[in-house]
Amino acid sequence: MTQKTATAYYEYEEKIKGERIPYYEPWLGDEELAQLTEVIRANWISEGAKTREFERRLAKLHGVKYALAVSNCTGALIIAMKALGIGPGDEVIVPSFTFIASVSSIRLAGATPVLVDIDARTLNIDAQAAERAITPRTKAIIPVHLYGQAADMDAIMAVAARHALPVIEDAAQGLAVKFQGKPVGSFGEIGCLSFFTDKSITLGEGGAVLTSSDQLYEELLMLKNDGRLERGMYVHDRVGYNLRITELQGAVGVAQLGKLETIVRRKRENADLYRRLLEGLPGLEFTYRDPRSFIVPHRVNVLVDDPDSLIAHLEANGIGCRRFYLPVHMQPCYDVTGDFPNAERAYRRGLSLPSAPMLGEDQIAFVCEKVWEFFRAP
Ligand SMILES: Cc1ncc(COP(=O)(O)O)c(C=O)c1O
Repeated sequence: MTQKTATAYYEYEEKIKGERIPYYEPWLGDEELAQLTEVIRANWISEGAKTREFERRLAKLHGVKYALAVSNCTGALIIAMKALGIGPGDEVIVPSFTFIASVSSIRLAGATPVLVDIDARTLNIDAQAAERAITPRTKAIIPVHLYGQAADMDAIMAVAARHALPVIEDAAQGLAVKFQGKPVGSFGEIGCLSFFTDKSITLGEGGAVLTSSDQLYEELLMLKNDGRLERGMYVHDRVGYNLRITELQGAVGVAQLGKLETIVRRKRENADLYRRLLEGLPGLEFTYRDPRSFIVPHRVNVLVDDPDSLIAHLEANGIGCRRFYLPVHMQPCYDVTGDFPNAERAYRRGLSLPSAPMLGEDQIAFVCEKVWEFFRAP
């Protein structure tokens, strides 16, 4: 076992800076600076008009009545469960193949995560496996729209309806993603978005909860705001968190939303270019694209027999890339036995290539050349 030290946390930045082609980088510039300047000049840096504008635009984009900005998506998921009254003794169904926060949030809300396998093609939750996992203690299902592709919301909503269960959509990677023309985050009772640095738009850190329910909106607002609906007063109806964002983040969010159309277009074009340049390469396949989903690629994902060796070759050429998520049932902090063949196969074979929206065609061509070189080597 490797010796882990806290210094690795800080060394990471140096490693990333050394990459000639970064695995991911946000697109920030003059638009964000102009917005930030306005906020600083106004001398109001806790949530204000910019944050409200950011929320209004998010709600419109995702076809819901309310969007509430919060400090991250992990917190969004926790308060989503708390607003639905989920806690100790309750079970929540979630896919094992996801970023850890989809599952940790359930534990942090006091409930028990029940892990299920994914669909082998879409890499999203297998709705039939979810239905088989339902018990009298089940209180919600969390589909994850992983890698910017919508989960099968027809199947999930049908299961939820049959068992009268609420759905919380983990749309951390799902900004502007749609399933059969309808934005993700608008199917279930609550949807959760992330604006961490590697998401389509970023506030550095950040998230949002989406809902069209007046009652859930009030609960969520109290949970994000120290248990009260107002500010500047000290009577608290609930025990809440402080998950407010800063107005600096709200301002960056407004600028980033202004670029979203370009970001979405670039991400989709880049993914298509990768496919063209790597077409016909034996030993490599791209992950499946569900035609029912409007995909906003969170990553450009490929499946190979030996991802570690390919990553080593690309990193030696200054190209940042990553393995897929280690499924949650295999994580040191969870001890789950069960059958998750599709999650394990995805992990064994998957890797993500550089996927920043502003990556140039020449950079993508360089990455692809190095991928070909790897497979051609004797
Ligand atoms: C699927 C998924 N869920 C939840 C989260 C948690 O988001 P945050 O980092 O904003 O807490 C992430 C973050 O990457 C994610 O990818």
